[in-house]
Amino acid sequence: MKDHLIEKAARVLRGNWKEKFTIPCEGLYPFQWNWDAGFIAIGWAHVDMKKAKTEIRSLLSGQWSNGFIPQIIFHKESDSYYPGPEVHGAHRSPFYPKDIKTSGITQPPVLGFVLEETLRISNNKEIDFVKEVYDRVFDYSQYFYQYRDPESEGLVYICHNWEAGTDNTPVWDEVWKEMDSPDYDLPRKDNTHIDAENRPTNREYQHYIHLLELFKQWNYDDRLIAEKSPFLIQDPLFNAMLIASNQSLIRLGKQLGKHEQVDLLEQWTNMGIESFNRKLYDRERHAYVYYDLRNQKSLNYVSSSSFAPLFARIPSAERAKKMIETHFNTGEFSGKEQDFYLCASFDPTHERFDPKRYWRGPVWINLNWIVYRGCKRYGYESLAARIKADTIELIRDNGFYEYFDPRKEVQRSLGKGYGGNNFSWTAALLIDLLNETNKE
Ligand code: DGY
Repeated sequence: MKDHLIEKAARVLRGNWKEKFTIPCEGLYPFQWNWDAGFIAIGWAHVDMKKAKTEIRSLLSGQWSNGFIPQIIFHKESDSYYPGPEVHGAHRSPFYPKDIKTSGITQPPVLGFVLEETLRISNNKEIDFVKEVYDRVFDYSQYFYQYRDPESEGLVYICHNWEAGTDNTPVWDEVWKEMDSPDYDLPRKDNTHIDAENRPTNREYQHYIHLLELFKQWNYDDRLIAEKSPFLIQDPLFNAMLIASNQSLIRLGKQLGKHEQVDLLEQWTNMGIESFNRKLYDRERHAYVYYDLRNQKSLNYVSSSSFAPLFARIPSAERAKKMIETHFNTGEFSGKEQDFYLCASFDPTHERFDPKRYWRGPVWINLNWIVYRGCKRYGYESLAARIKADTIELIRDNGFYEYFDPRKEVQRSLGKGYGGNNFSWTAALLIDLLNETNKE
């Protein structure tokens, strides 16, 4: 059974392989995406190490001269996706690469820990590959502290909802309320592939595109963005991914004798963890929440991103216990009135929870993988086992979908998931979860 599922998952990856990178899925996402590439590389590392390395090299081929790695690398043309490179208009930045088209925003920086995972899966054989790419992955971390930490506190901001990865989480509703974006008529393509009730609304897309229009006016200058962008958020998932990547780069850097880089990474990381616990932890909700830098206020919503700090060992043991007891043992994320698959992407007791719509409630496999690893790091074995079992069951019984309905009864009656099918990171992370060699 296990081998059969791994083989099915590997087939999904092979189907999405495009010579030097892996698309997230056919039609809906025809290019290379930053954090997708990271999770996909972990899957490839188990079944085809050469492709894992090519995936990472292809992502790095889109790196800008200031260290920034974009959200999308447009390796080839495609008219099945909106917005393409012209709408992003990122070539206005003086740091834009010469020979390749990219977007001008980024995504959760997973690459540092992906590199360490790749090395571990290879049984330390791929150390030369780590040597080859280490400095460029370090530059990506450095970019954030140089350009996106205006208060020098070790917490970095995101300036666009697509940078969060959790594109339409209800948390952003607070930001959209303050924005008066034009009523653009947008040639969306996503809704031609996927049922509109599972995707963000048109009004939300107008805000997404309006932010890009502003960045273009400012030539993607980080200084102007920090000064003026209406969307400027310190996001717990994004910052946890950056800190986890730094932690991996510290361990790898020590192995490679990169003393100066390790010193800097340690400074940023220690400061970041301290600020994270002071600024992003909500003591009433017992969870990490979001901080709106533009409006200088916390956005006190609990989502699956709230638990990502476990992955980067950010909470104390006591805080981790409180979080888990509150939200999982008898709490809203396990379902109070009905049985839920773990982990819904947004607080299921909240009025804005929508179990069918993208990041407003459905279960996502990459967040499950992150929270699963986090629970294991704190010794919550039975919760970790439940997340793993739920993840495997969802994929085995429904297919390699992009996201799933957390309500068990509804999901079981549907027999398929939501969004794109044959979705690469769903396959890649299932391979990792099922693979015995993946012991930490
Ligand atoms: C999309 O187009 O939905 C992507 O999530 C943007 O990164």
